[in-house]
Amino acid sequence: MKTAVTLAITDPVKLVRALQSEALYRHYRVTCGSFGQNVALWKGVKVYNADKLFIGNDVAITEDVWINAQGGVYIGDGVLIGPRTIIVTMNHIFDRLDIPIREQGLEVQPIVIEDDVWIGAGCIILPGVQIGRGSVIGAGAVVTHDIPPYSVATGVPATVQGNRREKSEMANTACGRSGF
Ligand SMILES: CC(C)(COP(=O)(O)OP(=O)(O)OC[C@H]1O[C@@H](n2cnc3c(N)ncnc32)[C@H](O)[C@@H]1OP(=O)(O)O)[C@@H](O)C(=O)NCCC(=O)NCCS
Repeated sequence: MKTAVTLAITDPVKLVRALQSEALYRHYRVTCGSFGQNVALWKGVKVYNADKLFIGNDVAITEDVWINAQGGVYIGDGVLIGPRTIIVTMNHIFDRLDIPIREQGLEVQPIVIEDDVWIGAGCIILPGVQIGRGSVIGAGAVVTHDIPPYSVATGVPATVQGNRREKSEMANTACGRSGF
């Protein structure tokens, strides 16, 4: 049985104090490319190339999220990122066989996470991906392609299972028909 409870991010300051190291918060607030209002960074969050991480308002990045922002990471307003998620903007180049991979350099691509996206626990978001506004990424998904707005996407690689907008329209229509 599913039971709905209210998400207790009504007092972000309290939440921030309870769940994050004050030092971590102060560090990323000044080192990130931009850092909005009411950003909650939970314990264990690790960001490389923080100057290329741009965070909007009312964002929660939870425990042990790992972000390599070398190619640029843009996180919109109201985004929730589940624990142990990895956001990585770089690949090692491995075209040649005559030199080791570690000497072939890197290729970077930006990642864009639009407003009001929820990324579940343990996801991996790969370079060059754009996750459309209002989307939900199920726990454990590996996002390799762009996700259209309001999608629910799950799996490895992540595929779109449904669209929140269509579901909501259907619910509204059903209410209309029944006269509510
Ligand atoms: C994706 C999610 C939001 C559920 O969405 P939903 O539309 O309510 O989906 P349902 O629970 O009705 O499941 C629908 C189908 O998707 C499958 N599914 C659900 N979550 C999945 C996931 N993360 N990966 C793969 N398949 C998943 C279900 O098994 C089900 O498959 P079936 O129809 O073959 O039985 C949820 O399962 C999820 O992953 N939540 C993340 C929880 C989390 O990480 N919380 C940490 C706090 S940030």
